Amino acid sequence: MSAVSESRSVPHADVRTVNVPLGDRAYDVLIGPGLVSRAGEIITARMGAARCGVVTDENVARWHLSALEAALDHDGRHAGSIILQPGEATKSFRKLEPLCEGLLELGLERGDLVVALGGGVIGDLAGFAAAILRRGVRFVQIPTSLLAQVDSSVGGKTGIDMPQGKNLIGAFHQPGLVLADTDVLRTLPKRELRAGYAEVAKYGLLGDASFFAWLENNWPAVFALDAEASTHAIETSVRAKAGIVGRDETEQGERALLNLGHTFGHAFEAWCGYSDRLLHGEAIAIGMCLAFRFSEALGYCPAGSAARVAAHFRAVGLPTRIGEIPGDKPDVAALLRLMAQDKKVRGGELTFILARAIGEAFIARDVPDEQVREFLAGEIANGLHS
Ligand SMILES: NC(=O)c1ccc[n+]([C@@H]2O[C@H](COP(=O)([O-])OP(=O)(O)OC[C@H]3O[C@@H](n4cnc5c(N)ncnc54)[C@H](O)[C@@H]3O)[C@@H](O)[C@H]2O)c1
Repeated sequence: MSAVSESRSVPHADVRTVNVPLGDRAYDVLIGPGLVSRAGEIITARMGAARCGVVTDENVARWHLSALEAALDHDGRHAGSIILQPGEATKSFRKLEPLCEGLLELGLERGDLVVALGGGVIGDLAGFAAAILRRGVRFVQIPTSLLAQVDSSVGGKTGIDMPQGKNLIGAFHQPGLVLADTDVLRTLPKRELRAGYAEVAKYGLLGDASFFAWLENNWPAVFALDAEASTHAIETSVRAKAGIVGRDETEQGERALLNLGHTFGHAFEAWCGYSDRLLHGEAIAIGMCLAFRFSEALGYCPAGSAARVAAHFRAVGLPTRIGEIPGDKPDVAALLRLMAQDKKVRGGELTFILARAIGEAFIARDVPDEQVREFLAGEIANGLHS
């Protein structure tokens, strides 16, 4: 149960609530329209009379910061806002230091709040700043990208990238509240929306076949941001993640299932230098197609499943093959080297998330190197053909 009772939750008929069950650190994710403009009253009702230091990026600030500031000002909660450059490069030590200084200059005290208004970059960086500021202050996530609403804002992983790899410095620091305002997705570039959708589909593919079937039938309404369809897709995704995080907060087991497509996908992202050439969700989409084809090749998954996954991703406009990575393509040796750098490697062994069927993913730690090599060689040779 949340530490704050439902009677203080300021509910609206069209707002859904998902609880992340983490004992005395449990918190709610509210999903629905109009949450940014009501943030002041909701934060006050749920988190008490704290001052809020807002962290955001230039793109998000342009569209949504004034509404949030007005909502916080109205309740006397706004301490100030810090606007950072958009992009993955902001998730760095170089940007963390001035951010911490800025938050201290706002006069944030132990009982105050850091409010992350943005996509996963802002959420991860501001969340990490909150984790270390004055040895830890509370924070609120107001995720503005689809990826952040269904994935990065929930579960408490915060951190920054290092030259050696992504997310290598960080902390588990759970937010006290997440406000996923479905209205803000209207200003999100379509390519970002599509990339975030890959993570939505992931929840169906890893553990909920009926949700994947629902997405196959309803994806146009989700992409059109139809209120009912988009709220259902986000709520189902958050509910899936909340359940897994509640059972395995620090990824000792089941939480690794959320990495479906990521062992391959991270290697593709690294190959592209974490640039706009290939967004995270696009890399994961290719990675999930490979995970299903690999599962079929190893005899775990019935024939036809991988083709169904790829057909859905093609329908929504996501890439499904290594050959679709823009620019030069990686070879097998490069991919194996990049996969070996992933932080999920244990004792030199790669971890794969494979599937017995759509909706039935499992963790495989004992896949022989030779089979990985042979499979990747086939994928590269296949190029663009499905
Ligand atoms: N903590 C976790 O559990 C977790 C999980 C998955 C991914 N991540 C991290 O999330 C990051 C990727 O997140 P992302 O895809 O949200 O990227 P992002 O934060 O870079 O946002 C994508 C782009 O969309 C813009 N944007 C965001 N919301 C907008 C809106 N409403 N209107 C207009 N523009 C908007 C941003 O300015 C940016 O240019 C990566 O760093 C990844 O490592 C973290």
